[in-house]
Amino acid sequence: MDTIVIRGGAVLDGEVTVSGAKNAALPLLFSTLLTPHRCVVRNVPVLRDIRTAVAVLRHLGARVESTADGHEIRVEAGAVDRSEAPYDLVKTMRASFLVLGPLLARFGRARVSTPGGCAIGARPVDLHLAGLQKMGARIRITEGYVEAEADRLRGAKIVLDMPSVGATQQLMMAASLAEGTTVIENAAREPENVCLAGALERMGARVSGAGTPEITVEGRPELDGADVTVIPDRIEAGTYMVAAAITGGSVVVGGARGDHLDAFTAKLREAGVTVREDPSGVRVSARGTLAAADVKTMPHPGFPTDLQAQFMALMTQAAGTSTITETIFENRFLHAQELVRMGAEIRADGNRAIIRGRAALSGAPVMATDLRASVCLVLAGLAARGTTRVARVYHLDRGYERVEEKLRALGADIRREAGTA
Ligand code: UD1
Repeated sequence: MDTIVIRGGAVLDGEVTVSGAKNAALPLLFSTLLTPHRCVVRNVPVLRDIRTAVAVLRHLGARVESTADGHEIRVEAGAVDRSEAPYDLVKTMRASFLVLGPLLARFGRARVSTPGGCAIGARPVDLHLAGLQKMGARIRITEGYVEAEADRLRGAKIVLDMPSVGATQQLMMAASLAEGTTVIENAAREPENVCLAGALERMGARVSGAGTPEITVEGRPELDGADVTVIPDRIEAGTYMVAAAITGGSVVVGGARGDHLDAFTAKLREAGVTVREDPSGVRVSARGTLAAADVKTMPHPGFPTDLQAQFMALMTQAAGTSTITETIFENRFLHAQELVRMGAEIRADGNRAIIRGRAALSGAPVMATDLRASVCLVLAGLAARGTTRVARVYHLDRGYERVEEKLRALGADIRREAGTA
């Protein structure tokens, strides 16, 4: 596996452009299973997780083509002849579990491996299954597989116990081909779900309320093909905003949607970072000492859990003590121990981490266990004295397109060393 090597100390300056959002592109790609007609998905980021999604679609029998640069993917799921997604594919990427709803709704049956847990927590799929059952699906779990059957799904009123992003997507997709109207209450309000709702509407379903806690979907017997565009990646944008702030730099994050980042931007401002939004993107600059700020992760529009690790890296450099409370995942402070190895002063206790700021970070060999933790270590490396080597870059490649190239263009001293294994 490759290693990312960073020599810290450079002040970042310049412009970086955000890619399409991985977490929006994945459900859009899986939604193409709802129709036999051709779909085009534009502004797709070139990432390992997208390659996995394409492998899943091909495994199911879909024809998938992409443009030479990889940013546009065309899917025709007319020839899909299987409704089974095996463990080998689902275990590499949890989001593959999203094929369950579309396959069940279109073919009346589906057999999909359960995704299992991952480094950041147990991550069950009970809300996905309970919602589908409400729509009339018969579900059995045998030997690690979910087997679902329904002659035709029926619209239903579903109240989610918590606003799960994935369950909301799963149920919106299934409801688009169900008979009648589905109402999802306590739905996740993330921009990626609004993007999916727009795609389902283009395919012919009627979706209202996306972006609010109550989503209504009027199903159709069949759906059309659609031409859809992935929204900019707000998590990637937030990561480059931290990169600017942690190096005391000044960066324009081109294409970032300020309105998708309100809670995060508010915390950066509280920390003394200047953030200006304009139609072309977000300008971030940090001069002088950063201030400590407390953060609690929440479902959208709250502070995103996917930017928690990056914010923790930033807080190691702020004056004073900050507290980070993680409410979405139970085990998402794995990066804290690695930051401590670089000299940070962090005490993690349950779902709360206390960070004593202005630690002098020094480069070290570190290793990450998940995607956002990996990038947090890269950010810390930018601010550290000496050389930081981030191993297991596999995680980074799942979610950040050309990260070292983009950071280098901003003036970072960063390179990739090809691994031998
Ligand atoms: C998505 C994102 C992930 C992000 C997360 C929260 C994708 C591909 N991934 O993951 O990057 O960190 O949203 O913003 O879009 N839960 C249940 N039962 C369920 C489903 C979820 O208990 O059936 C729990 C989870 O364990 C977790 C919480 O709900 O504690 C939130 O999970 P969810 O919103 O579903 O996250 P994902 O869709 O998996």
